[in-house]
Amino acid sequence: PSILLLNGPNLNLLGTREPHIYGATTLTDVENHCASLCAAEGVTFSAFQSNHEGFLIDRIHSARTEKIDFIIINPGAYTHTSVAIRDAIAGVDIPFIECHISNVHKREEFRHKSYFSDIAVAVIVGLGTYGYEAAVKYVLQTEKFKKK
Ligand code: DQA
Repeated sequence: PSILLLNGPNLNLLGTREPHIYGATTLTDVENHCASLCAAEGVTFSAFQSNHEGFLIDRIHSARTEKIDFIIINPGAYTHTSVAIRDAIAGVDIPFIECHISNVHKREEFRHKSYFSDIAVAVIVGLGTYGYEAAVKYVLQTEKFKKK
């Protein structure tokens, strides 16, 4: 089985971007850590970050061709704006967890609306970059991913 980790705009700046909100861990640290958790369970892992809506959509479409079993996505600011990414992820019919580093509900009103939450398996907010790890660990203990 396989997991794809997707990160949207500005998450390439993780570690240096508003560290009081997003912490000091870099996206490379997050991706490497998730990759090693998956490797230990014999699960295929891939990761992709883009600042461009269309590239994220293209990556979601190819996930279906690649038969990716599960997506963990932090759509960044596109969370609050992108009907197009929502339609892409709904269209490929791959289960996903929506993950946010910060607790978006404690922040500005415009971050309270998500185009993803109502179709996600689960939503993780406010756990910092540990949220990505929590998401991966959840997926790894589901029936499809469990070591036989
Ligand atoms: C974020 C929250 C979004 O509101 C913001 O635009 C981001 C990061 C988070 O991980 O907390 O870019 O998705």
